[in-house]
Parts: sequence; C-alpha cells; structure tokens
Amino acid sequence: MDLEPKIIAFCCNWCSYAAADLAGTARMQYPVSVRIIRMMCSGMVHPELVVEALKMGADAVMILGCRLGECHYQDGNHKALARSGMIIELLDDLGYERERFSLHWLSSAEPLVFVNAVTETAERIRRL
Ligand code: FES
Repeated sequence: MDLEPKIIAFCCNWCSYAAADLAGTARMQYPVSVRIIRMMCSGMVHPELVVEALKMGADAVMILGCRLGECHYQDGNHKALARSGMIIELLDDLGYERERFSLHWLSSAEPLVFVNAVTETAERIRRL
C-alpha cells in the first residue's frame, strides 16, 4: 500500500490559493492527502501553527505565498521567509526532521508550481 503523507498547506489568498484553485479547475493531478488552509498572507503563518500541525499528526507543513516582491500586503512573504529559519530551529529542537517544513513562492497563474511543490513534498516525506 502506498503511504499518502498528510500535508498541511498554508496558502495565501491572493497567489498560492488561486494557483491551487486553478490546478483543481484544470484537473491537474496532485496528492489527495494535502489539506489547504487559506490565509490572507503567508506572513500570517506563525511558527506555532506549523509546530501545532505536526503535533496534531501532519507529516509535513508547507507555506505557500506570492513571489517575493509581489505580496499583496507588501512584505508579508519577507516576514514568512525571515521566520522560516526560526521554524527550522524549532523543529530541530522538538525532534522533527527539517524536511517536514517547506516554503514556496508562486503566482496565481502557476498551478504547475503548486502541483510540483505538493508532489515533491509528498515524495520527500515518503523517503523519510
Ligand atoms: Fe501572498 Fe502576502 S499576500 S504572500
């Protein structure tokens, strides 16, 4: 039986969620076990949310936001990027592999970037 890792994907409303939506309407295939949580901006994802998702049984947590320089709230994705180092340190401290967390940038017109990011995350988790 193929392991389907549980993936939580925090998507910003303006780009990554729209890209995920486009992937769905275009009937693109990606792992069914991904659960999308729509946030207004990637900068709203507090490190505690990532840890909490893993504690509650997620195998991986992704944050997907607008391309750097294109955040609809100016610098939210830069905040997400600045926090990513802290998140990785937190995961190390708590005994989670750092491969369980990833950060991605995409535009609303890039459903393939969304599909590839989710597919690669699922494959990475299966290898752990
Ligand atoms: Fe998309 Fe801020 S609105 S990252």
